[in-house]
Amino acid sequence: MELGKLLSRQLSGGKWFFANSGAEANEAAIKLARKYGKKSGRYEIITALNSFHGRTLATVAATGQPEKRKPFEPVPPGFIHVPFNDFEALKKAVSERTLGVMIEPIQGERGVYLCDDDYLKNVYQFCRENDVLLILDEVQTGLGRTGRFFGFEHFKIQPDILTLAKGMANGIPIGAVWARNEIVDVLEPGDHGSTYGGNAFATRVASEVLKVIAEENLIDKVRDTGGYFLSKLTELRNQLFPKLISEVRGKGFLIGLEFSRPIAEMVTRLLLQRGFVVGKVGGKIIRFLPPYIIEEEDIDELIDAIKTILMEMGKK
Ligand SMILES: Cc1ncc(COP(=O)(O)O)c(C=O)c1O
Repeated sequence: MELGKLLSRQLSGGKWFFANSGAEANEAAIKLARKYGKKSGRYEIITALNSFHGRTLATVAATGQPEKRKPFEPVPPGFIHVPFNDFEALKKAVSERTLGVMIEPIQGERGVYLCDDDYLKNVYQFCRENDVLLILDEVQTGLGRTGRFFGFEHFKIQPDILTLAKGMANGIPIGAVWARNEIVDVLEPGDHGSTYGGNAFATRVASEVLKVIAEENLIDKVRDTGGYFLSKLTELRNQLFPKLISEVRGKGFLIGLEFSRPIAEMVTRLLLQRGFVVGKVGGKIIRFLPPYIIEEEDIDELIDAIKTILMEMGKK
């Protein structure tokens, strides 16, 4: 109950269900939407190409990456994938079967791609006007990661269903799904559940994490320090490596650095040797998701390390 209240900032009404991971939260969101769609006979959910929604069968079917789906086919039907940030393509994919649109405000797993401002607002408006559910997967963008409590706050929109997980309990497994009352009310006892979902330990840890985030103003810090981080990477690109670094993008502490050549793996390995844990995506992208407590000095050290590594690589 306490965790539900702490999470309900920026959301009016609705109910939470607690799961054990992001995939499970999304699985619950899909089940919930499907049951809600029964009365109108609709079941199809539109998701974006290059999206990532999890590794269970339904969430792998929702994920817009054919290579992640193929080894496990046949996967559950009812998912349509459209190009990301292309509102016309999304509208074209809508039919009398369309029940919802599932989207990440920033695509994280495939390399930090931001929803265009207009795109997400248009999708939101379209969903409202056409009785289509807007399901936001905030497993990666939620809980302050982008410098706001929820990623959707950057766009001044509201979801019908929302999912969270990742750092919610600082490493203790937990996931959450929220939905408007009208949607949640279709569930009856026995429709959904999980032995460990909502257990006292994980929910208590998550509550404490949220309290610390609030008490220490960590979200403001993510916003400010994330802005500093982005500006330093942009400076590095503009001043020293305009050809080698093709793009720097992100919000808060969810930042992607794209190279023009496939050197991400080597840079990641060399950074690890210097004590910096960063993720690589494919051959050319590095993804930074630092803990909320890092300071500007930590970023300066990282920038110096990247600079030295790239310069040394340039000499070889
Ligand atoms: C946007 C998004 N959704 C869902 C998931 C799946 O979460 P989990 O690994 O906790 O199942 C992830 C994990 O990377 C994710 O980034």
